[in-house]
Amino acid sequence: SEITFRFKDLTTKLCEPEQLRTKPDVTDLKFGHYFTDHMLKIFYHSKLGGWQRPVIIPFENISLHPAAKVLHYAVELFEGLKAYRGVDDKIRVFRPDLNMGRMNKSALSSGLPTFDGHELIKCINRLVEVDQEWVPHSESSSLYIRPTLIGIDGTLGVQQSESALLYVIICPVGSYFNGNDDSVSLLADPAYTRAWPGGCGDKKLGSNYGPTIRVHNRAIQKGRQQVLWLYGPNHEITEMGTMNMFVAYRNEFGEKVLATPPLSGLILPGITRQSILQLCEQWKDVRVEQRTITMDDVIKWQKAGRLLEMFGSGTACIVTPINSIEYLGEIINIPTIEHKEPLYLKVRESLHAIQYGHIKHPWAQTI
Ligand code: COI
Repeated sequence: SEITFRFKDLTTKLCEPEQLRTKPDVTDLKFGHYFTDHMLKIFYHSKLGGWQRPVIIPFENISLHPAAKVLHYAVELFEGLKAYRGVDDKIRVFRPDLNMGRMNKSALSSGLPTFDGHELIKCINRLVEVDQEWVPHSESSSLYIRPTLIGIDGTLGVQQSESALLYVIICPVGSYFNGNDDSVSLLADPAYTRAWPGGCGDKKLGSNYGPTIRVHNRAIQKGRQQVLWLYGPNHEITEMGTMNMFVAYRNEFGEKVLATPPLSGLILPGITRQSILQLCEQWKDVRVEQRTITMDDVIKWQKAGRLLEMFGSGTACIVTPINSIEYLGEIINIPTIEHKEPLYLKVRESLHAIQYGHIKHPWAQTI
């Protein structure tokens, strides 16, 4: 068991009928508020030979030693992926293999145990199958899957945790942002940094997210909806909120370019990000570039009338258009939603068609 747990060892303990929860109304799904009837749990104990057998059990609280490393030193990582109920009523999961690869990289960076991602995918598929009635019957909703891995040794040394818990909880979700006009305003303040060279900003660790909350609150206080994370003396654009960033502009030759920052260590390797790059590389109407984008670039393109669109990408909200940026006391207006055939909509619609089974595509894997 040292190397990995196996799906073939999975056992399932179903809820008693009186334990079943009431399902929320799909028109009123606050992100991450409602959880399904069951969860997946897999313990790791190096003294017991490593990974233990996976179990699906009724959703329950977890009990931890008060000294558990996760609670003191944030020895924690997570993933986010989604299952969609397609037009044919089949349930599809979007590119789970990429989440598994990233999760193992996060585990390595935290001294937590790695595992065979294919085995976890099979266990997750079974969990989704058990709670399949929770996958919304709606094309504006989906099931968010949250694999989580925590270090649970009840000892205060800042050392590798010899025991861990991998668990997966799932929840029906609508869109991450509430409200109708889904374009957002950003605050870009070079005083704050999300990630830095030699750090862990390219891993999906809880410790990358907690410290962003006060900066987010500050943006809200200033009447802005999200943070635009800048880096370095040139105020490079890195990410917005919890999402990757894309900028569409016309270059000096009049070509339409879609740019996103390269995976330099400062950028979370988003699965939606990668998918958008792959889709746009197939389309011949836009040139795709992974390049550094500074605030000066954005201002230059905007002044020349060459700035077309800016949007964020992520699993939770897929694609979020940006309408303006507050930067050094000025407001930069971004005409993202003012075009007739914007790229962000083409991208959003293409991903939607794949995810909800309107077209057959290898990225959407039926469970
Ligand atoms: C995303 O999917 O954009 C996220 O990173 C989700 C989040 C709630 C951390």
